[in-house]
Amino acid sequence: MTRHVVATIDEIKPGGRKVVTIDDREIVIFNLNGDYVGILNRCPHQGGKLCDGVVTALITSNEPGQINYARPGEIIRCPWHGWFFDLRSGQSWGEPDRIKTRNYNVAVTGGNELVEGPYQAETIEVTTDQQYLVVET
Ligand code: FES
Repeated sequence: MTRHVVATIDEIKPGGRKVVTIDDREIVIFNLNGDYVGILNRCPHQGGKLCDGVVTALITSNEPGQINYARPGEIIRCPWHGWFFDLRSGQSWGEPDRIKTRNYNVAVTGGNELVEGPYQAETIEVTTDQQYLVVET
């Protein structure tokens, strides 16, 4: 499994989202009040962009006239035809046994834990001398 650095934690505020592209796949990263989750930005129904969906709660009912709200901010509604998906698991609420959008683990990692890559950009030392910038080559 390959790890990709996609953002700093400050870039996605609680309740916010960010679309990133990894290996030609768009993935939407959500901040669920400090828990970060990712889902494929493509609805399994007909390809709607889930990043444009409205985030809502899990709404259930035990009897007519009674409505229960749970897990606010953890369910997204596809903007095209309104299918609902659990942001934590990718599971649909229309046909949960059959339909799911791909979900991704998102971990918060300190910069000192990231491994240096094999590539290094060329650097040139720059010094100041009075009012001039001097480039050493
Ligand atoms: S494309 Fe998402 S519900 Fe149809």
